[in-house]
Amino acid sequence: MTQPNRKPLLAGNWKMHLDLKGSVELVRALLKDLPADGREVLVAPPFTALSVVAEVLKGTPIRLGAQNLHWEEKGAFTGEVSGGQLKDAGCSAVIIGHSERRQFFGETDATVAKRVRAALKAGLVPILCIGETLDERESQRTWRVLETQLQGGLEGFTAPELATLVVAYEPVWAIGTGKTATQGQAQDAHLFIRKTLAKMLGEGFAAGVRILYGGSVKPDNVDGLMSEPDVDGALVGGASLKAADFARIIKFQIPARR
Ligand code: PGA
Repeated sequence: MTQPNRKPLLAGNWKMHLDLKGSVELVRALLKDLPADGREVLVAPPFTALSVVAEVLKGTPIRLGAQNLHWEEKGAFTGEVSGGQLKDAGCSAVIIGHSERRQFFGETDATVAKRVRAALKAGLVPILCIGETLDERESQRTWRVLETQLQGGLEGFTAPELATLVVAYEPVWAIGTGKTATQGQAQDAHLFIRKTLAKMLGEGFAAGVRILYGGSVKPDNVDGLMSEPDVDGALVGGASLKAADFARIIKFQIPARR
């Protein structure tokens, strides 16, 4: 189980799903089924639904996030959205460097670092996604990939600047495949990430940073994953689109230790 200074964060990444009506229905259903305190909940709808969802979430404990942002504040960047605009739409966090952006939209560690800086400047919590492909795992390159993504994505930052940072470990082979990392695989990767962050930014920083697991998190595997000491939450895709499933994920329970 996560340390007391790291409040569990359960985040739903809706990707390119749901229209306005469906978005509002989903958050309304979630609000009816909110669990006890002690955990933070966030949803990340597509850009088009941010303002309507923000209206519904006003005054509630569910926080709003976006799925990407551009690094410039404004200008002639057709099709892009800035951190200030996300803040204005009601967001308090933003997902950065998701593997689908790296895979399909040319995201690199260098552009990830620019987006992290822009998010922090706009006062948004950056949720930095990293993770290895199946090929990288099978050829024993997982640790090297994670280290490169952390060093590249966080290049030039100091620990105080990154005080709000959240990292999401999302093995690419587990995203949308129904193939979840085992608890042990997740814990090993999370511990490696924490140790790498300790080397980069100091022990104190690493002890406080939240590391989420993402990749086919479901109601039936969340309890096991969350029982690992370095798993501080989950970034959930498919299962966050069903209110009952996401509500159950938010209500994860840590099985008693044998
Ligand atoms: P999934 O997606 O839960 O559908 O595997 C996770 C993610 O991409 O964040």
